[in-house]
Amino acid sequence: MTADRKNDHVWLASEHHRPGGRTEFDDVTFVHHALAGIDRADVSLAVQFAGFDWRVPLYMNAMTGGSAVTREINRNLAIAARETGVPLASGSMSVYFKDQSVADTFRVLRHENRDGFVMANVNATATVDQARQAVGLLEADALQIHLNSVQEIVIPEGDRSFGDWGPRIEEIVEKVGVPVFVKEAGFGLSRATVLHLRKLGVTVADVAGRGGTTFARIENRRRVGDDFAFLEGWGQSTPACLLDACDVGLPLFASGGVRHPLDVVRGLALGASAVGVSGTFLRSAHDSGPDRLIAQITTWLDQLKSLMSVLGAHTPADLFRCEVRILGDLREYCRDRGIDVTRFARPFPTVP
Ligand code: FNR
Repeated sequence: MTADRKNDHVWLASEHHRPGGRTEFDDVTFVHHALAGIDRADVSLAVQFAGFDWRVPLYMNAMTGGSAVTREINRNLAIAARETGVPLASGSMSVYFKDQSVADTFRVLRHENRDGFVMANVNATATVDQARQAVGLLEADALQIHLNSVQEIVIPEGDRSFGDWGPRIEEIVEKVGVPVFVKEAGFGLSRATVLHLRKLGVTVADVAGRGGTTFARIENRRRVGDDFAFLEGWGQSTPACLLDACDVGLPLFASGGVRHPLDVVRGLALGASAVGVSGTFLRSAHDSGPDRLIAQITTWLDQLKSLMSVLGAHTPADLFRCEVRILGDLREYCRDRGIDVTRFARPFPTVP
């Protein structure tokens, strides 16, 4: 049953994935300065945050594991991570806590990627012992905890009690022995949530906002009767989350609806330390061996460098100083939340 569910997620996520559709990332535009460019050779993709040093500001976000089909996908993801230097996260390991025979469907992420940065993924009901098991199995560098209350209410047998998630996260942070990154799963983290996570001691908040894969739709398709269709559109978009919380003082990751390298640049310009992709990479990882995904990621990193050279950014951190205009629905969101969009359109520091 659980293996079927994991396979369904992959199949439905691929089926629903619509590359190129409009999102609120399109409401983020750069003021172009024709003389701001730098040599591409002077661009470095390295990022530093919370004591970490990553070669690239891009990672493959949590997806799968728990079945034969998803083992193959994880193998492709891990080989692509190894060949491109991109960090990656496992899918939720809850299934492993119930059935240890699926261990290898997750362990392949580390076996194929000995020296890479690997995040183990659990839900917010995991115990400290389970969190330690997940980290141990993958020799993980960090633990991701996902917050997915909206998804749970759509799953007939899903969780219905969310009141103790905060204290559980706090205990894991204290005892698990690796840094804890907390993510949503496609509905976004509000400013209040990010402030709360900072208090709980987490190391990174991954906003995982609306705009890409949506588990309301995926789980709804698995139900008889489609009766949660009204949840379509729930939550905040990824750029809205970043604008809401970029000054909270906790490192943010941007994920949810990232379609191409320009979205990566937009996420970094709105204050993210790194940008995560699931759905857009899934199809490449699902279709055949790892080669297609390796080629896709290599192209993305190459285009990312080119965009940064046009914007005069020597490093991803420099992008936060670019002049960015906020338009459309995203601007409305900022107005309602009291966020001053003019401060993101501030002058570029190297303008003479
Ligand atoms: C996911 N996602 C996810 N997240 C998580 O924390 N644990 C999980 O087990 C899964 N499983 C999963 C399966 C599949 C097939 C997909 C496509 C996604 C959610 C994922 O990490 C991310 O938050 C959302 O997919 C939004 O990002 P994209 O897909 O729009 O880039």
